[in-house]
Amino acid sequence: MKKVGFVGWRGMVGSVLMQRMLEEHDLDYIQLIFLSTSQYDQNITLDSNQYNIKDAKNLDLLREMDIIITCQGTNYTKEIYPKLREINWQGYWIDASSYLRMQDDAIIVLDPINHRLIEDGINKGIKNFIGGNCTVSLMLMALGGLFQYDCIEWVIVSTYQAASGGGARYMKALITQMLSLYNLSKSILKNDTATILDIEHHITNLIRSGKLSTDEFEVPLIGNIIPWIDEQLANGQSREEAKGQMETNKILNSSHTIPIDGICVRVGSLRCHSQAFTIKLKKDISLKEIEDIISNHNNWVKIIPNDREIVTKELTPVTVTGTLSIPIGRLRKLHIGKKYLSAFSVGDQLLWGAAEPLRRILKYLI
Ligand code: HSE
Repeated sequence: MKKVGFVGWRGMVGSVLMQRMLEEHDLDYIQLIFLSTSQYDQNITLDSNQYNIKDAKNLDLLREMDIIITCQGTNYTKEIYPKLREINWQGYWIDASSYLRMQDDAIIVLDPINHRLIEDGINKGIKNFIGGNCTVSLMLMALGGLFQYDCIEWVIVSTYQAASGGGARYMKALITQMLSLYNLSKSILKNDTATILDIEHHITNLIRSGKLSTDEFEVPLIGNIIPWIDEQLANGQSREEAKGQMETNKILNSSHTIPIDGICVRVGSLRCHSQAFTIKLKKDISLKEIEDIISNHNNWVKIIPNDREIVTKELTPVTVTGTLSIPIGRLRKLHIGKKYLSAFSVGDQLLWGAAEPLRRILKYLI
């Protein structure tokens, strides 16, 4: 059995990955070694098996691993990965963080989209398999068929990204902000003489007061949206926006760059990213054909009819959270021309957006 070292299993993505591995009985096929940068030499029990946690920075131990899978974050990768390769470690490195993503000797893994590229890569001796940016992976899972059949000239995307994309701390900050609003407004809500504008005034004042936590999003996210995610680049894009084109084209291994741009926005949902797409098609294809191409692409994408009631129930973060489903709806030709298509999709940022592609490449490698 392959020895698999797992770093960062306590964190949010790591926990979701662990849960999925247990659900799929992946542990039956590997010798799993839990690694930790801080709390090692302790025992944990999982699925009635006991594991001794080992030191995630012990290179002598790490070099014995056939595969290392890390959800620990960029700093760990930056520190440990080069040292391991320097001592000629030949194992597979599977990583949730972005640090190695764009390197030539790394493949961004999303096997329903690029299984051939992955297979070729393995045959050519590629050893680094990195999870993609969550919005990119979720977009490709939704639009995979249209990319596969080369139907897309360009895509403009507006994202609605959940707090979880920032990490566990960010989700907690949002929930704490919700609680502060509740505490302020509960007595006012009970006061029959208060008008809705009185209540709104109190709430807006609290959000603006500087009393809500700003360590995470820099401004409160509750009652708000933030049209900027990640660093500012010289061309005026955010880094999150730049990843859309860069990573998509790398995953697709495109012979020419498919232009993808848009605005990435943080919203107050918990763990599902939603995206509105404006797509320029290469030719006028009927909506029926488009729906067939999209739905035949993979087992998780699901067409939601463009019907008010169904969309409202099925095309929302609350419905999709905790599932692998990738619903896509609001599909219609825009009145600006027959080659212009609109679409809206939702996906769990921690499942297809992070943990699931890693779980699947691990299984593939073993
Ligand atoms: N950068 C993403 C976000 C996280 O902030 O939502 C996952 O790639």
